[in-house]
Amino acid sequence: MDKLIFGIIGMGRIGKIHAENLLRLPQVELKAVADLYADKSLQDWASARGISTVTRDSADLLGDPDIQAVFICSLTDSHVPLIVQAAQAGKHIFCEKPISLDREQTQIALAAVQEAGVSLQIGFNRRFDHNFRCLQERIKEGAVGDLHLIKITSRDPSPPHEEYIGKSGGIFIDMTIHDFDMARFLADCDVEEVYAQGAVLVDPVFAKYGDVDTAVVTLKFANGALGVIDNSRKAAYGYDQRVEAFGSLGSISVQNDYPNTLEISTAEGVMRDKPLHFFLERYNEAYILETKQFAQSLLAGSEVPVNGQDGLQAELMALAARWSLKLGRPVKLSELDMLEAEQEAVKL
Ligand SMILES: NC(=O)c1ccc[n+]([C@@H]2O[C@H](COP(=O)([O-])OP(=O)(O)OC[C@H]3O[C@@H](n4cnc5c(N)ncnc54)[C@H](O)[C@@H]3O)[C@@H](O)[C@H]2O)c1
Repeated sequence: MDKLIFGIIGMGRIGKIHAENLLRLPQVELKAVADLYADKSLQDWASARGISTVTRDSADLLGDPDIQAVFICSLTDSHVPLIVQAAQAGKHIFCEKPISLDREQTQIALAAVQEAGVSLQIGFNRRFDHNFRCLQERIKEGAVGDLHLIKITSRDPSPPHEEYIGKSGGIFIDMTIHDFDMARFLADCDVEEVYAQGAVLVDPVFAKYGDVDTAVVTLKFANGALGVIDNSRKAAYGYDQRVEAFGSLGSISVQNDYPNTLEISTAEGVMRDKPLHFFLERYNEAYILETKQFAQSLLAGSEVPVNGQDGLQAELMALAARWSLKLGRPVKLSELDMLEAEQEAVKL
């Protein structure tokens, strides 16, 4: 393969980011985009970028024999049917996180991918962030010795709108899922047990959907190490993304990224800019790199850097966190079958 032809399904916030990034790659042609609400403004946007096909029906794109790979950037509830259709059409797939809100559905998607023998990369963009990548490399080189603790702080500058909250599946599968994946990535180990506490402190609208806006999750890794994640849907001082890894030889931490390093010192105090505003700004370079590495692995016929099992494991951690919050106790990932079976039995 010397050139790849791509399509994108779902042209909202993240679909447009991936489109811009694909258009930068010399080995790639972005031929088609699909969105349920494609209109003249999307058509104009696409024409200005030389994208020849704009459609409302993803089947047009999946039926195009020229297209070798698709990005699935539609809302989460459409990911599984689209993955299955794309795999059956023989397309390689990049799917945004999470694969789904239901692990049986996720497994259906992964089985379709395996049967078709296509590649599937999941959109855990933070693995490609310059700070976290560097941290992971240092941990792997042994800079902190035996890893004992990972502490992740992950707080948004402002909560999403109500319609999004209602469909998001809750904080753990929508927001903490990035941190669950980061914890596994840094520790290079699966998590066996999750203990979550949560509260509604930012906006009562979260309670309306049985969700929380503030959470602390502790993790037990299979190798005995521990992890702590703290989340808030609203940090008054902006997007807060910091991590510390602590081990037998010391600790390494990574701090926030800022738009500049300007500092104003006066008699009143010392002021600096807030961290980069939100995920689109903070992870801009990471989105570029994940797209590039996906294309490179397809061209080389090699493994993608973040696969479907990574997507599934993070989802299992999110489901365990949801159960933990509900039951008020730590939950092992191995308990999920039993807990879900009991829930089904109560429904019958
Ligand atoms: N990795 C990240 O940092 C990141 C950031 C934001 C969102 N996401 C994920 O990306 C996905 C999309 O989020 P978003 O914020 O871009 O949402 P969005 O609402 O801005 O865009 C989604 C788009 O998909 C379209 N759509 C929905 N169903 C479709 C279908 N069946 N066929 C074609 N188009 C369809 C909608 O019309 C909409 O334009 C979600 O799964 C979300 O969790 C990931």
